[in-house]
Amino acid sequence: MNLVAAIEWAEGYHRRGLYSPMGVAFHWVMAALMIFQLAHGWYLEWQPVGGNKYVGYQTHTQIGLTIMLLGTLRLFWHSQLSGPGNVDGASLTGKASRLLQTWFYVSFFALPISGWVMWSTLPSDLPLSVAGVIPFPNLPFDQLSEGLQHRLMQWAATTHFWIVWITTLVIPGHAGAAVLHYVFKRDRVLPSMFDLNGPRVPGVVGSAPEKGSVAGPPRT
Ligand code: HEM
Ligand code: HEM
Repeated sequence: MNLVAAIEWAEGYHRRGLYSPMGVAFHWVMAALMIFQLAHGWYLEWQPVGGNKYVGYQTHTQIGLTIMLLGTLRLFWHSQLSGPGNVDGASLTGKASRLLQTWFYVSFFALPISGWVMWSTLPSDLPLSVAGVIPFPNLPFDQLSEGLQHRLMQWAATTHFWIVWITTLVIPGHAGAAVLHYVFKRDRVLPSMFDLNGPRVPGVVGSAPEKGSVAGPPRT
């Protein structure tokens, strides 16, 4: 399947108010990785200094760089598509929802980049890689003065820390809003991220726009 066919396949799902299996896979794989990474990062932070903590942080860097790679592919995929459009983008809640989603995309890059800056100022020989498979370079900070390296480390650690905190608060807001949609508005926002076929309709490639309501009108 080439890119144009893949886009038309995904838009077929969007026209029925659903995310495509590709969008659903990106969403849940990255949500699981981000939640694991946040919990594991805090866990490591509380561990006593030693070899285990160091090796634990190496795993942390491998998962973090994987998130950046997946985030790049997802951003590209997302930029090619219109989306299911279940939320009224002009409403205040629609704008808030868009803001939180945009924050996630920012965090997919800002967390790994600030982590990369930190790691590159540490006097360590542990190599970086994406998922432990694709080698990834350290930034050439060992050529800078010690004072400058120290300032870079502090700047990056503060940035990492604040983005971690904001993301930790944004996740329950985002997930809570999706659940509220399901419980109170009873619309398709939450099912759109789970349902790969839609009620009564198999995953038809490129279904026509007028079939947009096949998944059923919002329940009242
Ligand atoms: C999206 C991916 C990432 C998430 C969610 C994440 C999350 C966290 C969390 C929760 C902590 C502990 C709290 C803190 O010190 O801020 C932490 C610390 C840290 N992270 Fe990440 N991280 C990510 C990516 C990375 C990457 C790619 C690297 C390195 C290449 C990295 C390097 C570090 C380091 C060195 C620390 C220790 C900071 C310190 O002790 O001050 N992180 N991270
Ligand atoms: C844990 C519970 C979660 C639930 C129930 C949930 C639910 C949803 C739903 C229903 C949508 C579609 C909203 C719409 O159409 O406007 C969505 C979109 C989105 N979610 Fe989540 N989500 C969760 C966690 C996360 C996490 C942890 C992240 C980030 C790491 C995340 C990132 C996104 C992004 C970026 C979108 C926009 C669509 C896209 O670009 O793929 N979600 N989520």
